[in-house]
Amino acid sequence: MGTHLITGAGSGIGAATAGLLAERGDELWLLARDTARAAQLREQYPGSRTLVADLAVPGGLAAALEGQDRPGRLDSLLHVAGVMEPGAVADLAAEPWQETFAVNVMAPAELTRLLLPALRAAGGHVVFLNSGAGLHAPPGLVAYAASKFALKALAEALRAEEHQHGVRVTTVYPGEVDTPMQARLHDRLGLPYDPRTCIRPESVAAAVATALDLPRDGTLSDLMIRPGC
Ligand SMILES: NC(=O)c1ccc[n+]([C@@H]2O[C@H](COP(=O)([O-])OP(=O)(O)OC[C@H]3O[C@@H](n4cnc5c(N)ncnc54)[C@H](OP(=O)(O)O)[C@@H]3O)[C@@H](O)[C@H]2O)c1
Repeated sequence: MGTHLITGAGSGIGAATAGLLAERGDELWLLARDTARAAQLREQYPGSRTLVADLAVPGGLAAALEGQDRPGRLDSLLHVAGVMEPGAVADLAAEPWQETFAVNVMAPAELTRLLLPALRAAGGHVVFLNSGAGLHAPPGLVAYAASKFALKALAEALRAEEHQHGVRVTTVYPGEVDTPMQARLHDRLGLPYDPRTCIRPESVAAAVATALDLPRDGTLSDLMIRPGC
């Protein structure tokens, strides 16, 4: 049985991942943006514990977590939470850039820093939910894509730095996944949404579990997941 801390467990890929790990009896710590969301998560995953912190304020994470119960040993830290604000360079002002980078890059870096002692203690695993847009930037999603490129850099540096401490690092790059984020994007762009053309969040969760379960002599460093046929 492993102990995992998951961000974004209330929706989409995070919910599918938390569901899969809960089903096999693992211990879950779930990070919620506020106390109301934390209560919902504890109800959704009986036996889970919650931490409350707003990832949009990475500079406040240390203070937010101070005084809250935290795991002493962590088998995995799963950075699944993310935001997407569509827009072209010509349209996006500083604010959406800042929020996107705060939630998608700076908060994962800060949360990792704060939890590294627990990860090192367990020989743990850090998983970053990246995106195909973190490898090839499409037009109209520039802030999101740039944040995911930066997240790739964070993962690569962390992997090189923490190898000596026995901490493994995996980045997952899915294509379109059937989640509220994807449905909202189609809505914003005025495009028809057909979930059947998307990857199921449960399939991404299965890929995450495969990375976690790989015997320790190997690391699945980068996983690309495209829609099947
Ligand atoms: N869907 C796709 O097609 C797709 C493709 C590739 C990669 N991804 C990546 O996969 C990850 C999960 O995406 P998803 O599609 O499952 O999205 P989603 O359904 O919109 O879920 C996003 C999660 O992030 C949490 N979150 C957002 N801002 C937060 C904040 N300030 N503080 C705390 N939590 C916050 C949300 O919390 P609440 O539940 O409280 O709102 C929610 O649980 C993201 O990193 C995304 O970039 C998604």
